[in-house]
Amino acid sequence: VQLLLIGGPSFIGLHTIRYALAAGHDVTMFNRGRTNPDAFPEVERLRGDRTSDEDLQVLRGRTFDAVVDTCGFDNRVVQKTLDVLDGNVGHYTFISSVSVYADYSAPRQEDDELERLEADPDVPLERAYGGSAHYGPLKVLCEQAVERAFPGRSVKIRLTLGAGPDDHGRSTHRMAYWAQRVRDHDSVLVPGPASRLVNFIDVRDMTEFIVRQAERGGSGPFNLAAPALPIVDFLTLFKGIYDTDAELVFADPEWLLEQGVRPNTELPWWIPGEGHDYHFAVDGNKAIAEGLRLRPLGETIRDSVEWADAHPALADGVPIDAQAGSASGPRPAFLSRERELELIEAWRRR
Ligand SMILES: NC(=O)c1ccc[n+]([C@@H]2O[C@H](COP(=O)([O-])OP(=O)(O)OC[C@H]3O[C@@H](n4cnc5c(N)ncnc54)[C@H](OP(=O)(O)O)[C@@H]3O)[C@@H](O)[C@H]2O)c1
Repeated sequence: VQLLLIGGPSFIGLHTIRYALAAGHDVTMFNRGRTNPDAFPEVERLRGDRTSDEDLQVLRGRTFDAVVDTCGFDNRVVQKTLDVLDGNVGHYTFISSVSVYADYSAPRQEDDELERLEADPDVPLERAYGGSAHYGPLKVLCEQAVERAFPGRSVKIRLTLGAGPDDHGRSTHRMAYWAQRVRDHDSVLVPGPASRLVNFIDVRDMTEFIVRQAERGGSGPFNLAAPALPIVDFLTLFKGIYDTDAELVFADPEWLLEQGVRPNTELPWWIPGEGHDYHFAVDGNKAIAEGLRLRPLGETIRDSVEWADAHPALADGVPIDAQAGSASGPRPAFLSRERELELIEAWRRR
Protein backbone atom coordinates (compact mmCIF):
# COMPACT_ATOMS: atom_id res chain seq x y z
CA VAL A 1 0.00 0.00 0.00
CA GLN A 2 1.21 3.52 -0.85
CA LEU A 3 0.28 5.48 2.24
CA LEU A 4 0.23 9.26 2.67
CA LEU A 5 0.38 10.60 6.20
CA ILE A 6 -0.99 14.11 6.62
CA GLY A 7 0.96 14.98 9.77
CA GLY A 8 4.35 14.01 11.05
CA PRO A 9 6.26 11.57 13.21
CA SER A 10 4.91 12.90 16.47
CA PHE A 11 2.73 10.37 18.28
CA ILE A 12 -0.11 8.87 16.26
CA GLY A 13 1.81 9.70 13.08
CA LEU A 14 5.04 8.18 14.37
CA HIS A 15 3.41 4.90 15.29
CA THR A 16 1.39 4.83 12.08
CA ILE A 17 4.63 5.12 10.09
CA ARG A 18 6.36 2.52 12.25
CA TYR A 19 3.57 -0.02 11.89
CA ALA A 20 3.09 0.66 8.16
CA LEU A 21 6.81 0.22 7.39
CA ALA A 22 6.94 -3.00 9.41
CA ALA A 23 3.94 -4.26 7.42
CA GLY A 24 5.84 -3.60 4.19
CA HIS A 25 4.00 -0.47 3.00
CA ASP A 26 5.45 2.63 1.36
CA VAL A 27 4.95 5.83 3.30
CA THR A 28 5.07 9.50 2.37
CA MET A 29 4.50 12.19 4.96
CA PHE A 30 3.35 15.77 4.62
CA ASN A 31 4.09 18.14 7.50
CA ARG A 32 5.83 21.39 8.41
CA GLY A 33 9.00 19.59 9.47
CA ARG A 34 8.93 20.96 13.01
CA THR A 35 8.07 17.92 15.10
CA ASN A 36 10.73 15.21 15.44
CA PRO A 37 12.33 16.32 12.15
CA ASP A 38 15.04 13.64 12.04
CA ALA A 39 12.79 10.62 12.42
CA PHE A 40 12.45 8.11 9.56
CA PRO A 41 15.04 9.52 7.13
CA GLU A 42 14.12 6.69 4.75
CA VAL A 43 10.55 7.99 4.42
CA GLU A 44 9.68 10.60 1.79
CA ARG A 45 8.90 13.85 3.54
CA LEU A 46 6.92 16.54 1.77
CA ARG A 47 7.29 19.81 3.58
CA GLY A 48 4.28 22.05 3.94
CA ASP A 49 1.57 23.54 6.10
CA ARG A 50 -1.84 22.04 5.39
CA THR A 51 -3.54 25.38 6.00
CA SER A 52 -1.67 26.86 3.01
CA ASP A 53 -3.12 26.37 -0.48
CA GLU A 54 0.30 26.97 -1.94
CA ASP A 55 2.03 24.36 0.23
CA LEU A 56 -0.65 21.79 -0.61
CA GLN A 57 0.24 21.96 -4.31
CA VAL A 58 3.08 19.52 -3.62
CA LEU A 59 0.34 16.86 -3.30
CA ARG A 60 -1.42 17.71 -6.55
CA GLY A 61 -1.27 14.87 -9.08
CA ARG A 62 0.24 12.41 -6.60
CA THR A 63 -1.62 9.11 -6.19
CA PHE A 64 -1.91 7.08 -3.01
CA ASP A 65 -3.82 3.97 -2.00
CA ALA A 66 -4.59 5.38 1.40
CA VAL A 67 -4.32 8.58 3.44
CA VAL A 68 -4.10 8.85 7.22
CA ASP A 69 -4.89 12.38 8.36
CA THR A 70 -3.76 13.06 11.93
CA CYS A 71 -3.92 16.85 12.20
CA GLY A 72 -7.35 17.96 11.00
CA PHE A 73 -9.23 20.29 13.33
CA ASP A 74 -11.18 22.54 11.01
CA ASN A 75 -13.38 21.27 8.19
CA ARG A 76 -12.42 24.13 5.89
CA VAL A 77 -8.75 23.19 6.23
CA VAL A 78 -9.48 19.48 5.81
CA GLN A 79 -11.53 20.29 2.70
CA LYS A 80 -8.44 21.83 1.06
CA THR A 81 -6.61 18.51 1.43
CA LEU A 82 -9.62 16.57 0.09
CA ASP A 83 -9.81 18.90 -2.91
CA VAL A 84 -6.14 18.67 -3.81
CA LEU A 85 -6.17 14.86 -3.58
CA ASP A 86 -9.48 14.53 -5.40
CA GLY A 87 -9.64 11.35 -7.51
CA ASN A 88 -6.10 10.23 -6.68
CA VAL A 89 -6.64 8.41 -3.40
CA GLY A 90 -8.35 5.12 -2.64
CA HIS A 91 -9.10 5.35 1.06
CA TYR A 92 -9.06 8.04 3.75
CA THR A 93 -8.65 7.68 7.50
CA PHE A 94 -9.40 10.73 9.59
CA ILE A 95 -8.23 11.03 13.20
CA SER A 96 -11.20 12.41 15.05
CA SER A 97 -11.94 12.25 18.78
CA VAL A 98 -14.46 10.96 21.30
CA SER A 99 -15.27 14.65 21.77
CA VAL A 100 -17.70 14.42 18.83
CA TYR A 101 -20.63 13.17 20.93
CA ALA A 102 -23.48 15.43 21.97
CA ASP A 103 -23.41 14.19 25.56
CA TYR A 104 -21.76 11.59 27.77
CA SER A 105 -24.52 10.55 30.14
CA ALA A 106 -24.12 7.00 28.79
CA PRO A 107 -21.23 5.00 27.23
CA ARG A 108 -21.43 6.43 23.72
CA GLN A 109 -21.61 4.25 20.64
CA GLU A 110 -20.78 5.26 17.08
CA ASP A 111 -24.39 5.83 15.99
CA ASP A 112 -25.23 8.16 18.85
CA GLU A 113 -26.04 11.81 18.37
CA LEU A 114 -23.13 14.08 17.50
CA GLU A 115 -22.35 17.63 18.54
CA ARG A 116 -23.47 20.51 16.42
CA LEU A 117 -21.59 23.74 15.89
CA GLU A 118 -23.71 26.34 17.63
CA ALA A 119 -21.28 29.21 17.32
CA ASP A 120 -20.57 31.39 14.33
CA PRO A 121 -19.16 29.37 11.44
CA ASP A 122 -16.16 31.66 11.14
CA VAL A 123 -14.44 30.41 14.22
CA PRO A 124 -10.78 31.39 14.16
CA LEU A 125 -8.69 28.28 13.55
CA GLU A 126 -6.73 28.36 16.77
CA ARG A 127 -9.93 28.06 18.77
CA ALA A 128 -10.55 24.61 17.33
CA TYR A 129 -7.82 23.00 19.42
CA GLY A 130 -8.48 20.36 22.08
CA GLY A 131 -10.19 21.78 25.14
CA SER A 132 -12.02 24.51 23.23
CA ALA A 133 -15.80 24.35 22.83
CA HIS A 134 -15.38 24.16 19.05
CA TYR A 135 -13.11 21.13 19.07
CA GLY A 136 -15.87 18.47 19.07
CA PRO A 137 -18.31 20.16 16.66
CA LEU A 138 -15.53 20.95 14.18
CA LYS A 139 -14.29 17.35 14.31
CA VAL A 140 -17.87 16.32 13.40
CA LEU A 141 -17.80 18.65 10.37
CA CYS A 142 -14.38 17.25 9.39
CA GLU A 143 -15.74 13.68 9.58
CA GLN A 144 -18.67 14.67 7.38
CA ALA A 145 -16.43 16.35 4.80
CA VAL A 146 -14.30 13.21 4.62
CA GLU A 147 -17.36 10.96 4.23
CA ARG A 148 -18.71 13.17 1.42
CA ALA A 149 -15.40 12.95 -0.44
CA PHE A 150 -14.92 9.21 0.25
CA PRO A 151 -18.38 7.69 0.63
CA GLY A 152 -18.02 4.19 2.13
CA ARG A 153 -14.23 4.44 1.76
CA SER A 154 -13.27 6.32 4.89
CA VAL A 155 -12.59 5.51 8.52
CA LYS A 156 -13.06 8.00 11.34
CA ILE A 157 -11.02 7.22 14.41
CA ARG A 158 -12.71 8.55 17.55
CA LEU A 159 -10.03 8.02 20.10
CA THR A 160 -10.21 8.56 23.78
CA LEU A 161 -7.12 9.66 25.71
CA GLY A 162 -4.04 8.41 23.86
CA ALA A 163 -1.30 6.63 25.84
CA GLY A 164 2.01 4.95 25.12
CA PRO A 165 5.53 6.02 24.18
CA ASP A 166 6.81 8.72 21.79
CA ASP A 167 4.16 11.29 22.63
CA HIS A 168 5.67 14.62 21.66
CA GLY A 169 2.25 16.20 22.08
CA ARG A 170 2.01 15.23 25.74
CA SER A 171 -1.33 13.40 25.85
CA THR A 172 0.33 10.37 27.38
CA HIS A 173 1.28 12.45 30.37
CA ARG A 174 -2.36 12.80 31.26
CA MET A 175 -2.35 9.17 32.34
CA ALA A 176 1.30 9.08 33.39
CA TYR A 177 0.66 12.08 35.67
CA TRP A 178 -1.39 9.87 37.97
CA ALA A 179 1.03 6.96 37.91
CA GLN A 180 3.95 9.29 38.68
CA ARG A 181 2.11 11.03 41.54
CA VAL A 182 1.09 7.72 43.10
CA ARG A 183 4.63 6.41 42.68
CA ASP A 184 6.50 9.48 43.91
CA HIS A 185 4.41 10.92 46.77
CA ASP A 186 2.66 9.77 49.91
CA SER A 187 -0.61 11.61 49.23
CA VAL A 188 -2.38 12.33 45.95
CA LEU A 189 -5.28 14.71 45.32
CA VAL A 190 -7.91 13.05 43.11
CA PRO A 191 -11.18 14.51 41.81
CA GLY A 192 -13.92 12.23 43.09
CA PRO A 193 -15.93 10.17 43.06
CA ALA A 194 -13.64 7.14 43.30
CA SER A 195 -16.02 5.28 40.99
CA ARG A 196 -15.52 7.82 38.17
CA LEU A 197 -14.80 5.90 34.97
CA VAL A 198 -11.69 6.50 32.85
CA ASN A 199 -10.07 4.78 29.90
CA PHE A 200 -7.30 5.23 27.35
CA ILE A 201 -6.08 3.75 24.12
CA ASP A 202 -2.53 2.61 23.53
CA VAL A 203 -1.22 4.43 20.46
CA ARG A 204 0.39 1.22 19.18
CA ASP A 205 -2.87 -0.74 19.33
CA MET A 206 -4.68 2.15 17.65
CA THR A 207 -2.21 2.57 14.81
CA GLU A 208 -2.16 -1.17 14.11
CA PHE A 209 -5.95 -0.92 13.74
CA ILE A 210 -5.64 2.18 11.52
CA VAL A 211 -3.19 0.55 9.11
CA ARG A 212 -5.16 -2.70 8.96
CA GLN A 213 -8.37 -0.81 8.20
CA ALA A 214 -6.57 1.08 5.43
CA GLU A 215 -5.27 -2.21 4.00
CA ARG A 216 -8.71 -3.75 3.85
CA GLY A 217 -10.58 -0.58 2.87
CA GLY A 218 -12.66 -0.43 6.05
CA SER A 219 -15.36 2.13 6.56
CA GLY A 220 -17.20 3.98 9.30
CA PRO A 221 -16.58 5.66 12.60
CA PHE A 222 -14.85 3.68 15.35
CA ASN A 223 -14.47 4.51 19.01
CA LEU A 224 -10.96 3.51 20.01
CA ALA A 225 -10.89 2.88 23.73
CA ALA A 226 -9.85 0.16 26.12
CA PRO A 227 -12.62 -0.77 28.58
CA ALA A 228 -13.11 1.92 31.24
CA LEU A 229 -12.32 1.31 34.90
CA PRO A 230 -13.08 3.35 38.03
CA ILE A 231 -10.24 5.82 38.60
CA VAL A 232 -9.64 4.22 42.01
CA ASP A 233 -8.88 0.89 40.28
CA PHE A 234 -6.30 2.54 38.02
CA LEU A 235 -4.69 4.30 40.97
CA THR A 236 -4.60 1.02 42.87
CA LEU A 237 -3.06 -0.67 39.85
CA PHE A 238 -0.35 2.03 39.72
CA LYS A 239 0.39 1.41 43.41
CA GLY A 240 0.74 -2.28 42.68
CA ILE A 241 3.02 -1.73 39.69
CA TYR A 242 5.31 0.67 41.56
CA ASP A 243 4.92 -1.01 44.95
CA THR A 244 3.97 2.19 46.77
CA ASP A 245 1.22 3.10 49.21
CA ALA A 246 0.16 6.69 48.54
CA GLU A 247 -2.96 7.90 50.30
CA LEU A 248 -5.64 8.75 47.74
CA VAL A 249 -7.38 11.98 48.78
CA PHE A 250 -10.66 12.10 46.86
CA ALA A 251 -11.98 15.66 46.80
CA ASP A 252 -15.41 16.85 45.76
CA PRO A 253 -15.20 18.00 42.13
CA GLU A 254 -17.37 21.08 42.82
CA TRP A 255 -15.02 22.11 45.59
CA LEU A 256 -12.00 21.68 43.32
CA LEU A 257 -13.63 23.91 40.71
CA GLU A 258 -14.34 26.54 43.39
CA GLN A 259 -10.61 26.51 44.20
CA GLY A 260 -9.91 27.36 40.57
CA VAL A 261 -8.44 23.99 39.59
CA ARG A 262 -8.69 23.56 35.84
CA PRO A 263 -10.19 20.24 34.82
CA ASN A 264 -8.41 17.96 32.38
CA THR A 265 -5.39 20.26 32.30
CA GLU A 266 -4.13 20.96 35.85
CA LEU A 267 -5.78 17.73 36.93
CA PRO A 268 -5.90 15.56 33.84
CA TRP A 269 -8.22 12.66 32.95
CA TRP A 270 -11.13 14.56 34.52
CA ILE A 271 -14.04 16.31 32.82
CA PRO A 272 -16.60 17.29 35.45
CA GLY A 273 -20.20 18.34 35.13
CA GLU A 274 -23.56 17.03 34.12
CA GLY A 275 -23.53 14.86 31.03
CA HIS A 276 -19.82 14.03 31.27
CA ASP A 277 -19.90 10.88 33.41
CA TYR A 278 -18.92 8.70 30.47
CA HIS A 279 -16.62 11.13 28.64
CA PHE A 280 -13.67 8.80 29.26
CA ALA A 281 -15.86 5.72 29.01
CA VAL A 282 -17.10 5.48 25.45
CA ASP A 283 -18.08 2.05 24.20
CA GLY A 284 -15.11 0.64 22.28
CA ASN A 285 -16.68 -2.70 21.36
CA LYS A 286 -17.27 -2.03 17.67
CA ALA A 287 -13.55 -1.65 16.94
CA ILE A 288 -12.73 -4.64 19.13
CA ALA A 289 -15.22 -6.72 17.11
CA GLU A 290 -13.46 -5.46 13.95
CA GLY A 291 -10.10 -6.75 15.15
CA LEU A 292 -8.65 -4.05 17.43
CA ARG A 293 -6.16 -5.81 19.67
CA LEU A 294 -5.50 -4.42 23.11
CA ARG A 295 -2.22 -5.10 24.87
CA PRO A 296 -2.14 -5.66 28.65
CA LEU A 297 -2.82 -2.51 30.69
CA GLY A 298 0.44 -2.87 32.59
CA GLU A 299 2.47 -2.62 29.39
CA THR A 300 0.81 0.64 28.35
CA ILE A 301 1.18 2.09 31.83
CA ARG A 302 4.88 1.19 32.19
CA ASP A 303 5.77 2.44 28.70
CA SER A 304 3.82 5.69 29.09
CA VAL A 305 5.47 6.42 32.43
CA GLU A 306 8.92 5.57 31.10
CA TRP A 307 8.41 8.03 28.23
CA ALA A 308 7.02 10.68 30.58
CA ASP A 309 9.96 10.20 32.99
CA ALA A 310 12.39 10.74 30.14
CA HIS A 311 10.60 13.94 28.99
CA PRO A 312 9.83 15.91 32.15
CA ALA A 313 9.76 19.22 30.30
CA LEU A 314 6.53 18.14 28.62
CA ALA A 315 4.87 17.45 31.96
CA ASP A 316 6.00 20.82 33.33
CA GLY A 317 4.29 22.56 30.47
CA VAL A 318 7.56 24.10 29.33
CA PRO A 319 7.11 24.89 25.66
CA ILE A 320 9.65 22.87 23.74
CA ASP A 321 9.91 22.91 19.97
CA ALA A 322 7.87 19.78 19.54
CA GLN A 323 5.14 21.12 21.73
CA ALA A 324 4.95 24.41 19.89
CA GLY A 325 4.35 22.39 16.74
CA SER A 326 1.83 20.08 18.32
CA ALA A 327 -1.47 19.73 16.54
CA SER A 328 -3.16 19.85 19.90
CA GLY A 329 -1.54 23.19 20.73
CA PRO A 330 0.66 23.85 23.74
CA ARG A 331 -0.82 22.48 26.91
CA PRO A 332 -0.77 24.28 30.26
CA ALA A 333 1.09 22.73 33.14
CA PHE A 334 -0.24 20.15 35.54
CA LEU A 335 -0.84 21.06 39.17
CA SER A 336 2.48 21.73 40.90
CA ARG A 337 3.24 19.53 43.89
CA GLU A 338 3.19 22.62 46.14
CA ARG A 339 -0.28 23.61 45.01
CA GLU A 340 -1.49 20.02 45.30
CA LEU A 341 -0.30 19.88 48.94
CA GLU A 342 -2.02 23.21 49.69
CA LEU A 343 -5.25 21.88 48.25
CA ILE A 344 -5.01 18.60 50.18
CA GLU A 345 -4.48 20.62 53.36
CA ALA A 346 -7.45 22.90 52.57
CA TRP A 347 -9.70 19.96 51.72
CA ARG A 348 -8.91 18.29 55.04
CA ARG A 349 -9.51 21.53 56.98
CA ARG A 350 -12.74 22.55 55.27
N1 LIG B 1 -3.51 12.29 21.74
C1 LIG B 1 -4.74 12.20 22.26
O1 LIG B 1 -4.96 11.87 23.44
C2 LIG B 1 -5.90 12.50 21.36
C3 LIG B 1 -7.21 12.30 21.84
C4 LIG B 1 -8.27 12.53 20.97
C5 LIG B 1 -8.01 12.93 19.68
N2 LIG B 1 -6.73 13.14 19.25
C6 LIG B 1 -6.48 13.56 17.88
O2 LIG B 1 -5.30 12.95 17.41
C7 LIG B 1 -4.68 13.78 16.43
C8 LIG B 1 -3.18 13.99 16.60
O3 LIG B 1 -2.72 13.53 17.75
P1 LIG B 1 -1.16 13.52 18.11
O4 LIG B 1 -1.12 13.45 19.60
O5 LIG B 1 -0.44 12.51 17.31
O6 LIG B 1 -0.74 14.99 17.61
P2 LIG B 1 0.62 15.74 17.67
O7 LIG B 1 1.57 14.99 18.53
O8 LIG B 1 0.26 17.11 18.02
O9 LIG B 1 1.16 15.64 16.15
C9 LIG B 1 0.60 16.32 15.09
C10 LIG B 1 1.44 16.16 13.83
O10 LIG B 1 0.81 16.89 12.76
C11 LIG B 1 1.73 17.75 12.14
N3 LIG B 1 1.04 18.99 11.86
C12 LIG B 1 0.41 19.80 12.75
N4 LIG B 1 -0.11 20.87 12.14
C13 LIG B 1 0.19 20.75 10.83
C14 LIG B 1 -0.08 21.56 9.67
N5 LIG B 1 -0.74 22.71 9.77
N6 LIG B 1 0.36 21.13 8.47
C15 LIG B 1 1.06 19.98 8.36
N7 LIG B 1 1.34 19.17 9.41
C16 LIG B 1 0.91 19.56 10.63
C17 LIG B 1 2.87 17.95 13.12
O11 LIG B 1 4.11 18.01 12.44
P3 LIG B 1 4.86 19.42 12.17
O12 LIG B 1 4.82 20.15 13.48
O13 LIG B 1 6.22 19.01 11.74
O14 LIG B 1 4.08 20.08 11.10
C18 LIG B 1 2.83 16.67 13.97
O15 LIG B 1 3.70 15.71 13.45
C19 LIG B 1 -5.44 15.08 16.44
O16 LIG B 1 -6.32 15.07 15.34
C20 LIG B 1 -6.23 15.03 17.73
O17 LIG B 1 -7.46 15.74 17.63
C21 LIG B 1 -5.67 12.92 20.07
